[in-house]
Amino acid sequence: MSDLIIETRDLVKIYGDGAEVRALDGVNMRVERGEFLAVMGPSGSGKSTLLNMIGALDRPTSGQVLVNGQDLAVIRDLDRFRARTVGFVFQLHNLIPTLNAQENVAVPLIGLGVGARERRARAEELLELVGLGNRMDHLPSQLSGGQRQRVAIARSLANEPALVLADEPTGNLDSESGGAVVDLLRRLNAELDTTFVIVTHDLTVARQTDRVLDMRDGQIADDHHVGHPFEEDLKAFRASGLGQAILQDEEDARAVLDPATLQAVQRLLDANGA
Ligand SMILES: Nc1ncnc2c1ncn2[C@@H]1O[C@H](COP(=O)(O)OP(=O)(O)OP(=O)(O)O)[C@@H](O)[C@H]1O
Ligand SMILES: [Mg+2]
Repeated sequence: MSDLIIETRDLVKIYGDGAEVRALDGVNMRVERGEFLAVMGPSGSGKSTLLNMIGALDRPTSGQVLVNGQDLAVIRDLDRFRARTVGFVFQLHNLIPTLNAQENVAVPLIGLGVGARERRARAEELLELVGLGNRMDHLPSQLSGGQRQRVAIARSLANEPALVLADEPTGNLDSESGGAVVDLLRRLNAELDTTFVIVTHDLTVARQTDRVLDMRDGQIADDHHVGHPFEEDLKAFRASGLGQAILQDEEDARAVLDPATLQAVQRLLDANGA
């Protein structure tokens, strides 16, 4: 058996009938088991569409998607496939407001033949894992944004999926909570050997992954392993002195930059011992 967890072949997705949108225009990608990768690209470039195809939330117009060696087009019961193989984290975490944290995390286990007691135990274990052992009985409305996102991450792992698809998991978090969420995903990737595909607009997030796919107009415009390109960018950024200038002139900088941007600059300068 190959070690590919995702393979797409000439994947095309066209929306609409009148004014057609070619959201995916021949995507060929291969992801190996255990990878931790980011998908970037401008708004409308097809990132969410790609994730939806891989997670079998929608069907391609043409081309193939293979997940775990299985061609999605020939799977009869896609609900079952999703329930067993894929975990989803959405930007708007989609927690059920009337269920507490523990119950929300256990939701994906319903229908998988896992008894109530075991569902509860598994949910508690996952909440411990994401650092929310002391928030089991809290409703989503009683949690902070970052905590809700961590509940959503715990939920995405409940079915022990081989693959987690995360669409802007840090999109509505400040940079500090966003960083913590990515650290957590990274740790889970290492500990559980789960493959993560993370759609993000945030370069700081992408820097923490191993590989970045850059989408443009429904195609993969660039596919690079992180390390060198980012390191080069960082070096150039440091050499430019711009970051230092911004921080030294903090009062002026504060007047024009929001605190999250200032923090990001500081982090970039600190990264890997500047
Ligand atoms: N259900 C739909 N019906 C028609 N067109 C759609 C639909 N979903 C997406 N599109 C179009 O397909 C293209 C790709 O959309 P997609 O949501 O994949 O972009 P994205 O890269 O995720 O963007 P963003 O960063 O803004 O989330 C866009 O031009 C969008 O308008
Ligand atoms: Mg999107």
